[in-house]
Amino acid sequence: MTESPTRILVTADRIQSRIRELGAAIDKDYPNGVLLVAILKGACFFLADLARAITRPVRIDFIGISSYGKSKTSSGEVKLTKDLDSAIDGLDVLVVEDIIDSGITLSYLVSVLEQRKPRSLRIVALLDKPDRRVRPVDVAYVGFQIPDEFVVGYGLDYAESYRNLADICVLEVPPGPVVR
Ligand code: IMP
Ligand code: MG
Repeated sequence: MTESPTRILVTADRIQSRIRELGAAIDKDYPNGVLLVAILKGACFFLADLARAITRPVRIDFIGISSYGKSKTSSGEVKLTKDLDSAIDGLDVLVVEDIIDSGITLSYLVSVLEQRKPRSLRIVALLDKPDRRVRPVDVAYVGFQIPDEFVVGYGLDYAESYRNLADICVLEVPPGPVVR
């Protein structure tokens, strides 16, 4: 790779200062603490920083959902690939997601988790592409609204690459078919 295929959209510094604000808002809304449920794999970086920005008691769990495969557009199909480790009935649950695009993933996940009777269920998403929504999703906390561009970095991938970029970047040069 001779040229970087990415352009910075949100710097690492802006990400961290916005996460501090989100943590303060969550502290205020959940004085008794909250269970953070991160969606694998993209939300892991956000989860790690958000959990440390919250000063109330926090527990974490993970859920796996597949929606995109190796393509840049949603297949429209969603399936659970890893379930939570523990029951959530009676708990205050905050789903931690990296980005909301069509809304298909989160509307599916919310319907699955609601059936388990949590005391409350809300969503925090680092990024939101509202122009792309096809299913309505009620998001309690949003880090940044971004335009309809494909982004990578800070946990977000294209075909499993770029997750380790510190900044959130627009993928400008489509890398083409993945060679494995
Ligand atoms: P949705 O179901 O269309 O809302 O898609 C949500 C999921 O698609 C996210 O959890 C991401 O894994 C992935 N996704 C959506 N947009 C992007 C993007 O711009 N970059 C990387 N992944 C994305
Ligand atoms: Mg995801």
